[in-house]
Amino acid sequence: MYGLRITHYHFTMSIKKPIGIFDSGVGGLSVLREIRAQMPGENLIYFGDQGHVPYGPRPMEQIQGFSEGITRFLLKHNSKVIVVACNTASAAALKYLRETFPDVQFVGMEPAVKPAAEKTQTGKVGVLATPATFQGALYASVVERFANGVELFQNTCPGLVGQIEKGELDAPETRAILEDALLPMLEKNIDTVVLGCTHYPFVIPLIERIVGENVRVIDPAPAVAKQVKRLLEADGILNQNQGEGTIRFVTSGEADSVKSVLSLLLGIDGEIETVTWVDDRGIL
Ligand code: DGL
Repeated sequence: MYGLRITHYHFTMSIKKPIGIFDSGVGGLSVLREIRAQMPGENLIYFGDQGHVPYGPRPMEQIQGFSEGITRFLLKHNSKVIVVACNTASAAALKYLRETFPDVQFVGMEPAVKPAAEKTQTGKVGVLATPATFQGALYASVVERFANGVELFQNTCPGLVGQIEKGELDAPETRAILEDALLPMLEKNIDTVVLGCTHYPFVIPLIERIVGENVRVIDPAPAVAKQVKRLLEADGILNQNQGEGTIRFVTSGEADSVKSVLSLLLGIDGEIETVTWVDDRGIL
């Protein structure tokens, strides 16, 4: 009987553990938003690596080191699953993380080429992502598996992540970056745009003004949140607490700037905890 009580205790404690979510910056908040909407009772801990953003132009090995250090931090804070809410980190490090932490459950991002290929009528699809995402084996595999017969047009939107990190969601410079990427694709008659970077859902209103109502814009965040829920249900550790779970926000950058962008993007007035990197793999 006593043993049963202990097991029940550990089981209950596992349910209450937070979902760990990370990104190079505020982009992963587009995934956190969907996780919150689908699983409001879950406790969350979000890590934005503003000390190193952007990841897109960086070498894979460096992104792997950052992702390992952040994973260790989130595990130290009892995360029951790690959501790599970053296409760039998923492309560069998801396989590495699964090999390094074989007992940890990871959910990563992959550009939504599959739904885009299923939905397009013109057979022409635009994909917006960072250079490291396009260079990764993950993207090549997604294209090979799902893009059959569909013509893909890719663009890395240089500078767009930085604009979103500053909360410049509608500035002329932000619009110029998106027009440079999207107008040539429109000339090629695309009818679907895949957002292959978790930052980009925050500029969907601007994207829609540029592409017009006849072009579908695909944000993968809802599907990723659904995958997280499926995994937690399968493991029996979904927190169905009726009240709202807690959210911790952690940054390796400046708390004040993250606090103001968090308020702008999600309307949340959250306290921001700061951490310091001791090297490319370890957080103090
Ligand atoms: N938001 C991330 C992504 O989905 C990373 C962008 C960056 O830091 O370059 O790729």
